[in-house]
Amino acid sequence: MPNWPGFKREICISNSNDKILEKQLQLIEINLGSYYNKYNKTIYKNNKRWQSNKWQEMCSENLFHVSYWNVESNELVCFCSIMPCEESIVEGEMSNIIYLYEIHVAPEWRNQKFGKSILNALKEKLCPKAHLSGIELTVFSSNERAINFYRNNGFTLSYDSPSDKRRRTRTGIRIIRPTYYIMCYVLR
Ligand SMILES: CC(C)(COP(=O)(O)OP(=O)(O)OC[C@H]1O[C@@H](n2cnc3c(N)ncnc32)[C@H](O)[C@@H]1OP(=O)(O)O)[C@@H](O)C(=O)NCCC(=O)NCCS
Repeated sequence: MPNWPGFKREICISNSNDKILEKQLQLIEINLGSYYNKYNKTIYKNNKRWQSNKWQEMCSENLFHVSYWNVESNELVCFCSIMPCEESIVEGEMSNIIYLYEIHVAPEWRNQKFGKSILNALKEKLCPKAHLSGIELTVFSSNERAINFYRNNGFTLSYDSPSDKRRRTRTGIRIIRPTYYIMCYVLR
């Protein structure tokens, strides 16, 4: 994973560092809190607050959190959470991949290529070194900015992703989007 001068990198696994996870959860809330408030029940299928569902997910076994901190202010700048696992990203084939659970950049640090550098490190360094076939992730279908970001970085809709449905109405055709898409990057 990248190492940038002026930023401290921390790597931890599942719930080995509660203080880091708390900061990461705060950033998820800033970035995507409105989405989780809206879709909590749909995605987690229970009555708990999304924050406690997310916390449980962040504590999953084998989930690695890589975070970057501003050395001067000690603020969280960005992080990603990844899990090596077996999945099918090419129809009919199972392979070892990285599941990208989270990628977040704090609002004041966006558009400075932190996100792109993290994806590049996964695509160009981690996957080839660890003999992994690609990366998969889930993205809210209404998070257009993130979808564009992934597309610009070589990701496409996965063959098994939920897809848009066309519904005929009195006034024409209406497109119904699923709650989320699954996107992947396949190493060639
Ligand atoms: C998606 C995210 C990780 C991207 O990180 P980032 O460090 O800001 O991204 P980068 O600087 O590497 O690249 C930004 C790209 O988005 C483009 N962009 C900037 N503002 C944009 C906007 N309002 N809408 C669409 N694209 C935009 C930039 O032009 C740039 O494209 P380029 O690579 O072709 O130049 C970051 O925006 C983020 O944390 N978003 C909130 C959390 C989130 O949605 N995470 C994904 C969950 S699945």
